[in-house]
Amino acid sequence: MRIVGCLILGVAVAGWAVGGPGDPGRLTPPRPDLSGTPYGLGKPAGVYAAATSCSAAACHGGGQVGRVGSEHTTWAADLSAGPAAPHDPHARAYRVLFNDASRRMTELLEPNAAGRVPAHRNALCLACHMVGGEKDETVRAEGVGCAACHGPSANWLTTHYLPEWKGLSHHEKWGRGFVPTKNLVARVLNCAGCHVGGADREVNHDLIAAGHPRLAFEYTRFHYQQDYRKHWEERTPQPDFEVRAWVIGQAVSLRAAVDLLRARAARVAKNDPSTPWPEVSEGSCYSCHQSIARDPFPESRKDTPRGLASPHSRASGAVPWQPWYSSLGGSASEYHGILVPDRSGVAPVDLTPLRKEMEKRNPNPAEVARLAGRAVEELDAWLAFWQTAEDTQTFVRLSPDQSRDLGRVIAGGALTADGKLAEYDWDSVAQRYLGLAAVYHANGGADPVAGWRGPLDQLRKGLAFPRSGADRFDSPRDYRPADTVAPFTRLRTITTSRTGR
Ligand code: HEC
Ligand code: HEC
Ligand code: HEC
Ligand code: HEC
Repeated sequence: MRIVGCLILGVAVAGWAVGGPGDPGRLTPPRPDLSGTPYGLGKPAGVYAAATSCSAAACHGGGQVGRVGSEHTTWAADLSAGPAAPHDPHARAYRVLFNDASRRMTELLEPNAAGRVPAHRNALCLACHMVGGEKDETVRAEGVGCAACHGPSANWLTTHYLPEWKGLSHHEKWGRGFVPTKNLVARVLNCAGCHVGGADREVNHDLIAAGHPRLAFEYTRFHYQQDYRKHWEERTPQPDFEVRAWVIGQAVSLRAAVDLLRARAARVAKNDPSTPWPEVSEGSCYSCHQSIARDPFPESRKDTPRGLASPHSRASGAVPWQPWYSSLGGSASEYHGILVPDRSGVAPVDLTPLRKEMEKRNPNPAEVARLAGRAVEELDAWLAFWQTAEDTQTFVRLSPDQSRDLGRVIAGGALTADGKLAEYDWDSVAQRYLGLAAVYHANGGADPVAGWRGPLDQLRKGLAFPRSGADRFDSPRDYRPADTVAPFTRLRTITTSRTGR
């Protein structure tokens, strides 16, 4: 295996602004939902309409950016104030298929000019860069329009503002092709279809190596991304919105990633020659892509030639599996006990068998497909539980002690019992940072988590991609795992003590 000369890509971790004080703690255990499957899986049924049908002044085209009734205006208003100004990136999702990056990608993916399909006609690209399955050119040109997130409107366009519609449950609305975005599970399942991928659309290592950005979705990071101008006001404070968004985002992204792996493995098991195996983007990016100038993971060298210490990959010498989606989501059992009451009857998700198979030298595709299918079922049961909690507003309101316990689980998991680093891959550490930031913000940055701000800032700075003038490197070139020991230790100490100090 050739090690690539430069360290590349990754995802920037934006800092979160500090919010106001949180509500006093109160715990309402969610009611169980043992149906085993959340609604909102897959694409909603129905025929799509152009966003222009939403843009009438009396509907969503009120002309005042950021106001209720002006959702279309807010979504569409363009980058005239400069690319750094807040905007909705979805409005240009189709247009980018005409840019230089897309042209270059197309050329690299299909060296033979005669057989090349331009990106804006390529079904592979269109699957995520516009409203699903659309043939009509005007609808396509709108990119990721209203229907991509709210569902195809044929069955509800003329009724969705009437009282009878408002009386329907979220589940019933989904049945009519409307995505009930107020339910975080239904909302994020839909984002993940494009931002993680799935059986019908994916960004694999071939696309990434040709220049496509890596898809590294994390819901809270995307939700709070500073330049993403949202056309809605999240009705907060809601109990622990940030923690719910975080835990649901983790579970949904992991579900999408594991289901994509299942689909890939199943295709290979049926000898599909067009599916690469093993798919390289299922591996830890930074275990292969390392700086040749400076070893970014000196701490890990004693254990393994790779970046991430996993007992299975250490034994086999294989590349560790997917730290971005699986490092925290995979150890959901760590925080399951805090967020899900025992009596709910929902079991924690166990990814160990799948990880073990994926970290063999030659993972067996049929076995991977089977184990991934089982993990998806476990995750679905988990998500069904959260979805009901969302719909009935019976989600957990974390008590101060639970917040602290959650912080301890997330921070403590980065360290071994004797205070050494247990995880050093940039992906895992960035995920831990985002989880801790969610707990911090859910508490308004105040007690019971006083003293978190300093170590959190330290982690964020260490994870940031370096800048060179106006440009940002697309990699965590300066990241030093050893620098995370102090902030993680500090956070573990704070969250272990009863006084929070
Ligand atoms: C699985 C869904 C998916 C597929 C398939 C896909 N994309 Fe994307 N693409 C995305 C998402 C999501 C982003 C935004 C990524 C981010 O920033 O996190 C993106 C970003 C991009 C960007 C960068 C946009 C910018 O503003 O800089 C380009 C260019 C692009 N895609 C082109 C393509 C082309 C060309 C193809 C087909 C060869 C393709 N995409 C296939 C989902 C997809
Ligand atoms: C990238 C996904 C996405 C796209 C594209 C999108 N929306 Fe939304 N929209 C959401 C989410 C998420 C919410 C917040 C949850 C909610 O209030 O339903 C929302 C909320 C809304 C609301 C409720 C606002 C409120 O304050 O209650 C309206 C109305 C709306 N969108 C209309 C539109 C229209 C019209 C378009 C097309 C111009 C559009 N949306 C495009 C995701 C999207
Ligand atoms: C139909 C596919 C699709 C869906 C559904 C979708 N997105 Fe996107 N999203 C894209 C594409 C494609 C881009 C890249 C657009 C560009 O830059 O040209 C993007 C870009 C973004 C970006 C900017 C990323 C960056 O790196 O700058 C954010 C933030 C984002 N999406 C959030 C969301 C959220 C939150 C949801 C769900 C509520 C969602 N998206 C649903 C396709 C989708
Ligand atoms: C098993 C090792 C391995 C893993 C894991 C891996 N890559 Fe790669 N990657 C390679 C190799 C080898 C090449 C060179 C391929 C070639 O030149 O044909 C490459 C090429 C690339 C390139 C093009 C670099 C250039 O200079 O042209 C990008 C970008 C990239 N990988 C990103 C990623 C991302 C993002 C991930 C994680 C999602 C990842 N890689 C995971 C081995 C890996």
